[in-house]
Order: sequence, then structure tokens, then C-alpha cells
Amino acid sequence: AQAVLVNATIDDTTGDSLTGAFVTYTPPDAWNSGATCGNACAVKPDISKLNGGTWHDSTFSFNGGPHPNVPLSATVSFNGSAVYVFCAMSRSSVSPPGAVDITFLLDGVAVDGYTEPAMGSAGFEYDVPMFAKESLPSGMHTLTVQNGRQGGSTSLMILDSIVYTYV
Ligand SMILES: *[C@@H]1O[C@H](CO)[C@@H](O)[C@H](O)[C@H]1NC(C)=O
Ligand SMILES: *[C@@H]1O[C@H](CO)[C@@H](O)[C@H](O)[C@H]1NC(C)=O
Repeated sequence: AQAVLVNATIDDTTGDSLTGAFVTYTPPDAWNSGATCGNACAVKPDISKLNGGTWHDSTFSFNGGPHPNVPLSATVSFNGSAVYVFCAMSRSSVSPPGAVDITFLLDGVAVDGYTEPAMGSAGFEYDVPMFAKESLPSGMHTLTVQNGRQGGSTSLMILDSIVYTYV
């Protein structure tokens, strides 16, 4: 019989639809939760366009903020054979600056990156598929989405959801 592949969604805030596991954010105070920051959010995407109406954002800066030059990470474990990461992006180069420099690590190894300058117009992009990896050996994997790199340029990451495929 053919194995049936099914997707599960790990929401940035409410976690894994299948197991209830949550995303771990490091360092925790480098991340803003769109579910709780309300009017204080510097980054305000349209929640009607986000999975579950929630997001987590962080800004990497090599010389600013509470954690200068420390890459900021979101980590999840999943039992599956494929994984996809969806983010929002600010189009603006100033408010908030939307340039992105993200590295994806699977089981501790950097496997891909997503680097884009800000588009320089207004508003946000949604459901941007920043990372996809299929044909993984079925089983437990750990994905780390790392915002910024040591000595690198300023990067805004707005995590919306992580989708994985299980058998
Ligand atoms: C799971 O979701 C990804 C991303 O949306 C999609 O490309 C893939 O076809 C889906 N897989 C299944 C088994 O539905
Ligand atoms: C992962 O899922 C497979 C298929 O459902 C299951 O057989 C296996 O026990 C799971 N592994 C873990 C570590 O949960």
C-alpha cells in the first residue's frame, strides 16, 4: 500500500497542530510576539493574512539592539520527511527595514539561506516560502531558522508558520 503523506502546521505561537510542541526562540527577549505586543509592535503586518493571526519577529543587528551581533534563532523538532518555512516580509527599506538574511539549519547543519534587500515600497509580503526541503529520511529532525549572521547586515525576520510532512 502507498503511504499517505499529510501536512501538519507548526504555528509560530500556537505550535504544532499534531503534537502541540512549540517553537523555541533564542534569545527569548530578542523576539516580539505579535499575539501580545499589540500597539507597541514596531512591526505590524495584517493579521488577517497570517496563519492563526499571529507572528514572531526579530531584528538582527551587528551593532545595535539588546543582543548586538548575536544571530537570533527559532527552533522546532518534527517527525517527518519534508519541511517548509513561511514568513512575512516588510517591503519598506525604513519602516520597518525589511532586508532579510536568514540561514536554515537542519539537524545542526546549514543547508540553505534566504537573502533579500528590502523592496523599497510600502506594506508587507505574506506567505513567502523561504525554505523547502523534501526527501528527508522519515523520522525526527530539528530545524533552526537563524536570523542574521555574525558581522552581517541588519535582518528582519517575521516568522508565520512551519509546515512539515509526515507519513
Ligand atoms: C505540504 O505543504 C507544502 C507547502 O505548502 C506543499 O508544497 C506540499 O505539496 C504539501 N504536501 C502534502 C503532502 O500535502
Ligand atoms: C515518527 O513517526 C513514525 C510514523 O508515524 C512513527 O512510526 C515513529 O515512531 C515516530 N517517531 C517518533 C520519534 O515519534
